[in-house]
Amino acid sequence: MEKRKVVIDCDTGVDDAMALILGMRSPAFDVLGITTTAGNVTLEKVVRNTLVVVEHAQREVPVYPGASRPLMGAWDTAENAHGSDGLGDVGFPDPERTAETTHAVDFLIETFMNSGEPVHLITLGPLTNVALALAKAPALEHHIASLVMMAGGINGGNVTAAAEFNVIVDPEAADIVFRSAIPKTMVGLGPIMQGGSIKAEDVAQFEQAGTPWCDMVGRLLRQRMEAWQAIVGEVRPTMPPDLAAMGVALDPDIAQATPYHVMIELNGTHTRGMTLADRRWYRKLFDDAPAPNVNVVTEIDNDRYRKLVLDTLLVQ
Ligand code: RIB
Ligand code: CA
Repeated sequence: MEKRKVVIDCDTGVDDAMALILGMRSPAFDVLGITTTAGNVTLEKVVRNTLVVVEHAQREVPVYPGASRPLMGAWDTAENAHGSDGLGDVGFPDPERTAETTHAVDFLIETFMNSGEPVHLITLGPLTNVALALAKAPALEHHIASLVMMAGGINGGNVTAAAEFNVIVDPEAADIVFRSAIPKTMVGLGPIMQGGSIKAEDVAQFEQAGTPWCDMVGRLLRQRMEAWQAIVGEVRPTMPPDLAAMGVALDPDIAQATPYHVMIELNGTHTRGMTLADRRWYRKLFDDAPAPNVNVVTEIDNDRYRKLVLDTLLVQ
């Protein structure tokens, strides 16, 4: 099977870490680089965490520092979900390797504009780097072979009733990306909650595998399960959003998707950061109906997803 060349953009928190490991350990991907943006935690912590993850994956993948803030400035980090260090405060030691000096935006432009073959992009955090790259090099939208985003939710959010974290952190960036001509797939909260579970028995397999990457994934999954158990009072499967998005990027056949025209709300008192899908079936009958701009994942086959994650990570 020919490897697909990919770039992964992230705001390394707990689920980004799992997703990065899955992408880097997969035989299907040649990960050319990882670009980082502020989001779950500050950029400094995101870069540090990403380097720690690359070391645990035992892969030689360069890490590029990117946006230190959203386009419009302020945002709320998510230490409540990712710990103060962004990796669940489970105690991973500092990395030995260092980040690149090239800025993430410049790496994105150089990589996609100069590649002689298709390169695919996967985003796991706010879309600030991609928006900045599109603003600096508008032709870039025709040079990204595909974009799979963990972003949004057409049936509601997680930060507010309307908005998902990666979009509400930088709605203007999301608007720029969703309006672009890049072939886009949106993996939002709905299908992740429906089919993105990793079960307790899966976590035990990672914990017993004995590899650095499974050790990291097992510890992070266990931390998430224990955090939720403290809230709900029972052991439940965990649903790491970025890991599910990476699963869909690796094997789109594990998911169902429908093309919709999706708009990003920028001004709503209660709805800023909403990903609003136009699902009116009759709209396509009208000449002025805007064409679909994104393939929205609507369902994930949980058995196939879990098998993909286990089969990929348990390989020694
Ligand atoms: O809403 C979930 C998303 O926001 C995930 O990417 C998580 O890492 C946070 O960035
Ligand atoms: Ca993320």
